[in-house]
Formats: sequence, C-alpha cells, structure tokens
Amino acid sequence: MTMVLSVAEVRKDFGGVHALRGVSLSVAEGRIVGLIGPNGSGKTTLLNVIAGVEKPTAGTVTLDGRRIDRLPAHRVVELGIAKTHQIPKPFLGLTTRDNVGVAVLYGSRQDRDVARAFDEANWVLRLVGLERHAETLAANLTVQDRKRLELARVIATGSRILLLDEVFAGLSPDELREAMGLFTRLQKEIGFGALVVEHVMRAVLTLSDRVIVIDEGRKIAEGPPQQVVRQPAVIEAYLGREAARAAT
Ligand SMILES: Nc1ncnc2c1ncn2[C@@H]1O[C@H](COP(=O)(O)OP(=O)(O)O)[C@@H](O)[C@H]1O
Ligand SMILES: [Mg+2]
Repeated sequence: MTMVLSVAEVRKDFGGVHALRGVSLSVAEGRIVGLIGPNGSGKTTLLNVIAGVEKPTAGTVTLDGRRIDRLPAHRVVELGIAKTHQIPKPFLGLTTRDNVGVAVLYGSRQDRDVARAFDEANWVLRLVGLERHAETLAANLTVQDRKRLELARVIATGSRILLLDEVFAGLSPDELREAMGLFTRLQKEIGFGALVVEHVMRAVLTLSDRVIVIDEGRKIAEGPPQQVVRQPAVIEAYLGREAARAAT
C-alpha cells in the first residue's frame, strides 16, 4: 500500500512567535513535494513537527490515517519517516560507515542484527557514492560529503518518506548538478516520497512533482512548479511587492 503523510491545520507557537499558523499538506510515497518560502517562514519548524522533534500547538499529523503528532521522534523514524538536519549532524567521532550503520539499526527495519546492518550500510554508501570514504571519520568529510552522509543516513533508516532540509544548499553549480542527479537516481531506485525544503529554486523546480509555498507560517500557494513560481503572491513573498507588480 502507498504510504501517505498528512498534515492538517498545524500551528506552532514559540512563546509569542507564531511559526506555523495553520498549515495543511500531504505527501504520498513515491511523490516529491517541494516546500519553499522566505527565511523564517516556518519550513524547518514544519519538518520538525512532522518528524516528532517538536509538538504542534494545534492540528494533526497522520501517517496512513494514524496520528503520529504525539509520538517521540524515534517512533516516527520507526514508522518510516526520517529527516535530515539543515546543518548536518553526523556523529563526528564515528566513521562514515558507522554513522550509516547506526541509522540502519535505529530505522524502520526493526532488525538489530549488526552484521546485516553493516551490509546494508555498505549498500547505501555505494548508492550515494560515499564508499571511498567509508572509513573516514565524519569530522573529516567535506561539506558536500557531509550533506551526502545526511542523505545516506535517512535512506539507511529504510524510510518511505524523507524530509530533506536544504540538502542542496551551499553547493557549487557542478556539485549541485551532481547532487540533483544523485537524488533522481536514488528516488527512481528506491521509490521513496519526499518533502524537500529548498532555497535553491532550480533544485525545487526540477525535482518536485508539486510545490508548496509558505510565508509567515501560512501556505500561500500550491501546484505544479512552473505554475506556482508565476503567481504574484509568490513573487511578492520572495522579491517584494514592486517586483511582483513588474512581473505581471
Ligand atoms: N526553537 C525555537 N524557539 C523560538 N523561536 C523559534 C524556534 N524555532 C524557530 N523559531 C522561529 O520560528 C520562525 C520560523 O523558523 P524556521 O522554521 O526555522 O524558518 P525557516 O526554516 O523557514 O527559515 C522564525 O521566526 C524563528 O525565529
Ligand atoms: Mg530552515
């Protein structure tokens, strides 16, 4: 059965800050949904709420109709949803392979066999092109390879829905092209669904089946990528009112 993640009317307050003001969306396994919005619009908060890292102030998150918004983050991972960190957070003192092995063991496979976990870790490292660095301490990886390791770790959990927080940020044009190619290959091979938060417009527009735009904690647009980026409200949120007027 195809897994479906649904977010309904989610609000999140941090004291007086209304980070999310009633956001609804859904992501089906196998589909790529892009989530864009200006800095501070609530993107990371939304991923954290879905991943169980933050509890919503109101609203619900369900997976195949079952509520998951009151579960701790490790239970959400076991159910098949895993999130990358906007700033990569590997275990710096562990090798690349050990980082991925840990993700296999604590993921959705419910298999605590260490030898099998490391076989699986080796497979994921090959998939993402990190096998050369299997023995390298995560602390010694380049920024690009740490981003790759973040992707490897969520894939290693066996998750069917990935939450990716700016995994394409900070890459050179060549690195970006390569990373996007890698993502597309992995998605075809594994068939996961993903909610992709991204600042790099080109990445979102190319990779997503559907794009959602949020601004100040509210959804302001949703639809096919090329259609969404032409909407005046979206241009205004990104570039200001003058630019929106000029573009229409
Ligand atoms: N733990 C927190 N405590 C207080 N305010 C927070 C916290 N996390 C996020 N915020 C605030 O919530 C808003 C949305 O932040 P965030 O979700 O990180 O935005 P984005 O990822 O779109 O840049 C911002 O105003 C931010 O300062
Ligand atoms: Mg963010």
